[in-house]
Amino acid sequence: MKIIGTGSALPEKVVTNDMLASFLETSDSWITTRTGIHTRRLLSKETLSELAMTAASLALESSGIAPEEIDYLICSNVANSYVTPSLSSIILGPLGCKCPCTDLNGACTGFIYALDIADAFIKTGRAKNILIVAAEEPSRFCNWHERETSVLFADGAGAVVVTEGEGFKDFILTGDTHTDVLYYKRSLETTPFDRVEEKTVPLVMQGREVFKLAVRSCIRDVDTILERNNMTGSDIDMYLLHQANFRINDSIREHLEQPKEKFPTNMQKYGNTSSASIPILMDELSRAGELKDGMNVLLSAFGGGFVTGASILKWSGIEYKEKSEE
Ligand code: UT7
Repeated sequence: MKIIGTGSALPEKVVTNDMLASFLETSDSWITTRTGIHTRRLLSKETLSELAMTAASLALESSGIAPEEIDYLICSNVANSYVTPSLSSIILGPLGCKCPCTDLNGACTGFIYALDIADAFIKTGRAKNILIVAAEEPSRFCNWHERETSVLFADGAGAVVVTEGEGFKDFILTGDTHTDVLYYKRSLETTPFDRVEEKTVPLVMQGREVFKLAVRSCIRDVDTILERNNMTGSDIDMYLLHQANFRINDSIREHLEQPKEKFPTNMQKYGNTSSASIPILMDELSRAGELKDGMNVLLSAFGGGFVTGASILKWSGIEYKEKSEE
């Protein structure tokens, strides 16, 4: 399987750290030094499905594949205002795709989970062209009265079109149960038979615990996938890591003893966009010509669950029309 098209879309609204400090007990210096985030984009006028549609359309356009040639549409999404239908069902028709569609929730690792499923479908001949759209609006389930999560998370969408070809070498996916370190609990309708009325609990995160789990598990995944492909850190030209906290990514970089240039970031502009963070970064780098034909690329992410994933691929250059670079 290889990637033949990329796209991304971000909300118009730019929110600075100072804007947050005007109503939360926080500061620009705390947020920048602890996380690397300077600004983020938050949904205001747009809807998540609109962002997902834009990212998907750009990915389709750059792939040269028509919507009706897509054999499967997979959306990676943690939560949105619709419990049903799925986000993929909502965008399928307007995009002009005529294929099965499904959503998966792999938290911030969802994009790598979706790639892995697509790879299996393509390898077994169940599908040829697959559209993956990671679209997230975590700002809609943070607690905006507390500073713990609302300064970190932000909204965005990234998409890729994948097809048969030589690109992805390997995937590692892991899962573990740590329900207390990162969760958002939504109340559903009460029935006459419920024992207790449930309450919605906005996103709760034990930041320090997640930080430690993230560094430990990403280093484990990266070491394992490099070793089993007879590669070292130096063989990788670009590391596209989940954009949550520059200190997490720097710990992985230091462990690998690799230069900063191999670890591009955009969390400073966009914050943590959950599973959309890697495909947004990938789209930006590819359109800027920084991801070049033949480069070895390593993806690694972690997220609530606790789930993690990593993958190695050889990048194939994508030709973008000027229109989509605007
Ligand atoms: O996609 C996966 C999602 N999650 C993550 O990636 C999060 C991983 N964890 C982290 O990124 C970091 O743990 C945080 C950025 C969340 C926190 O950084 P930290 O260096 O681990 O800080 P801490 O939690 O140890 O808190 C240090 C201090 C505390 O005050 P005291 O106890 O030292 O007085 C916190 O109450 O900073 C305080 N604090 C804040 N201060 C200003 C916590 N949040 C804030 C805030 N602004 N937003």
